[in-house]
Amino acid sequence: MKKLAAGNWKMNGNRAALAEVTALLAAHPAPACDMLLCPPTTLLAEMAALAAGSALHVGGQDCHPNASGAHTGDISAAMLVDAGASHVILGHSERRADHGETDALVLAKAEAAIAAGLIAVVCLGETEAQRDADETLAVIGAQLDGSVPHNATAANLVLAYEPVWAIGTGRTPTLEQIAEVHAFLRTRLTGRIGTAAAGVRLLYGGSVKPSNAAEIFAVSDVDGALVGGASLKAADFGAIVSALAAA
Ligand code: 13P
Repeated sequence: MKKLAAGNWKMNGNRAALAEVTALLAAHPAPACDMLLCPPTTLLAEMAALAAGSALHVGGQDCHPNASGAHTGDISAAMLVDAGASHVILGHSERRADHGETDALVLAKAEAAIAAGLIAVVCLGETEAQRDADETLAVIGAQLDGSVPHNATAANLVLAYEPVWAIGTGRTPTLEQIAEVHAFLRTRLTGRIGTAAAGVRLLYGGSVKPSNAAEIFAVSDVDGALVGGASLKAADFGAIVSALAAA
């Protein structure tokens, strides 16, 4: 499978930040892995235009489960497609925490995204309290069962394991802990969608940076990364792309 270096800009970046995309494409015109950047919606169409014909895919950070209607402030999957997106991040822990998103809502969003032709990047991960209570696999298993559509395939689903306590903190799980979760995810996903699970990219996310990317990418069943802060700068994200391409 082709590995995926994905960046989540979260609520960061204005149009001036698109210079980072130009720099990234100049430095990495044809990497041996896929690249994805998910900017704020305000930048989506312009970033997609910059990325057209390049190795860079562009995605949204959320979508509404409905196709259209009276949902002030929301964006539908079809609107993301119309703006040039091929992917959408769904169920990020910040959306689960800030907006009370449940597994059932993430599932409905993922179904809508897939129906619209997007690749759903479904996020899951435990809190620090859950890890300390030895609940990590139970929590992640329930999130997977509750938020991954039965009709998902390797062509329309990416799973991202993002321990909540590792996001933006500079802390990461041990390589053994990452390996344990990713092996568990592969098995659990097989139970949910069958043999297609073998080809689904499993990303690790949470404080991935140039200095730790190579060791994380060497862990089995890690098929790429979902990068927050380090995706905002072309030099840092480019270094992570290089590490993944070499893995
Ligand atoms: P950081 O890389 O900033 O820890 O963020 C990870 C993340 O939440 C990506 O979705």
